[in-house]
Amino acid sequence: MLMFENEAIMKILIVGGGGREHALALTVKKSPLCKELICAPGNPGTALLGKNFPADMSDPQSILAVALAEKVDFTIVGPEIPLVAGVVDLFNDNGLTIFGPTAAAAALEGSKAFSKAMMEKYQVPTALHQTFTDLDSALAHLKANPAPVVVKASGLAAGKGALVCMTDDEAVAAVESMLGADAQFGEAGKTVVIEEYMEGEEASIFAVSDGQNYVLLASAQDHKRAYDGDEGPNTGGMGAYAPAPLVDDALLNQVCEEIIEPTLIGMQKEGIPYVGVLYVGIMLTKEGPKVVEYNCRFGDPEAQVILPLYKGDIVQLLLDASNDNLQKHPKNPPVEGSAAIVVLASDGYPGDYEAHKEISGIDRAEASGAQVLHAGTTLGADGKLLSAGGRVLGVVAQDENLKLTLEKAYAALKEIHFQGCFYRQDIGQKGLKNV
Ligand code: AMP
Ligand code: GLY
Repeated sequence: MLMFENEAIMKILIVGGGGREHALALTVKKSPLCKELICAPGNPGTALLGKNFPADMSDPQSILAVALAEKVDFTIVGPEIPLVAGVVDLFNDNGLTIFGPTAAAAALEGSKAFSKAMMEKYQVPTALHQTFTDLDSALAHLKANPAPVVVKASGLAAGKGALVCMTDDEAVAAVESMLGADAQFGEAGKTVVIEEYMEGEEASIFAVSDGQNYVLLASAQDHKRAYDGDEGPNTGGMGAYAPAPLVDDALLNQVCEEIIEPTLIGMQKEGIPYVGVLYVGIMLTKEGPKVVEYNCRFGDPEAQVILPLYKGDIVQLLLDASNDNLQKHPKNPPVEGSAAIVVLASDGYPGDYEAHKEISGIDRAEASGAQVLHAGTTLGADGKLLSAGGRVLGVVAQDENLKLTLEKAYAALKEIHFQGCFYRQDIGQKGLKNV
């Protein structure tokens, strides 16, 4: 076991290349424990903080190759794909220190059939559900359980595998799209979870765990739908803010007792202790908080707002989690002030969109007091910054309260331009109602 406590000697690798990884890079770079930062694959934003190296997120060997060649001391993994593919197992086998769950533990996100079975076994509150692998049984279930229902591809589907069906016709179409002949969700949709529709407000809770102990980070609220008023298709997330005023101390205690602790204990009992960030999406229903989903990593864009609110040294925290050494950290460190992110996306996202549009105004936005994070950008041959993804940039602001924070973020955002840019105008409005 490698320990680097209080020694600024570490070369740190961040795995991933989106807005979450740019946020991780900024936070890690500020740590006195970080001597040198590299990213794989990174993006033009992380390139300003450390060198980027190519790597294939679905091929853990390509990530290990970077860590070995660069003599990396500590690796922090952003996205779920390498975690579910076993990057942590591979690093452990090679004696390298890495933050994140093993493939077996990452199944909490990688397989909704597994996560639902765990919640059932360890009595974690969630929507009533049933799992299917054949079309006829799933259709028969829909006959007996009319809409609204939610039909979910069990495997990873880039955040697009949960279909909320308000009519029976939609539910039948959803099941057919997964279990029917053309299997539109590929392998991910060959096992389908059909669950009860839950009504309520959603929030995201983050617990960094060493397998046994855990430390809570700020709660957050994401905005998954593409358009204002929570209209339009689900996206990876169009904006977020933290902390979520909805999540008061009483609710947080209830989430710890009824959800986080039984989940961590359950994973220990199964022999697959959960080391990493356990990100729990909850629905605050009339019967109390229930799990919508588990994720095995930091949220994107939630990481961009919870990381700057953590007052301690994030590298020390993640290193202690990786080294089974979290017991010395307070479980619920205080969170002061507020942070928000508004995502600038390419017109058409989450569907088809045009890329390679020139971006201007980042300097002016940052001069006004915000931080601009790269999510889907690239450098053109002439060195100009171009859009290169659905979610292109995130404008992050921090201030003493949510209202001031949102004003700062939106004022900065007005400075940034690229052709076909769109963003939600109502990020954080739900939070202002709950203040
Ligand atoms: P998931 O991929 O499971 O996080 O689901 C994506 C989104 O679909 C969630 O953030 C919710 O807004 C919605 N959703 C998922 N499951 C349910 C449910 N059982 N009831 C109501 N909405 C849900
Ligand atoms: N913001 C949603 C996610 O990271 O899954």
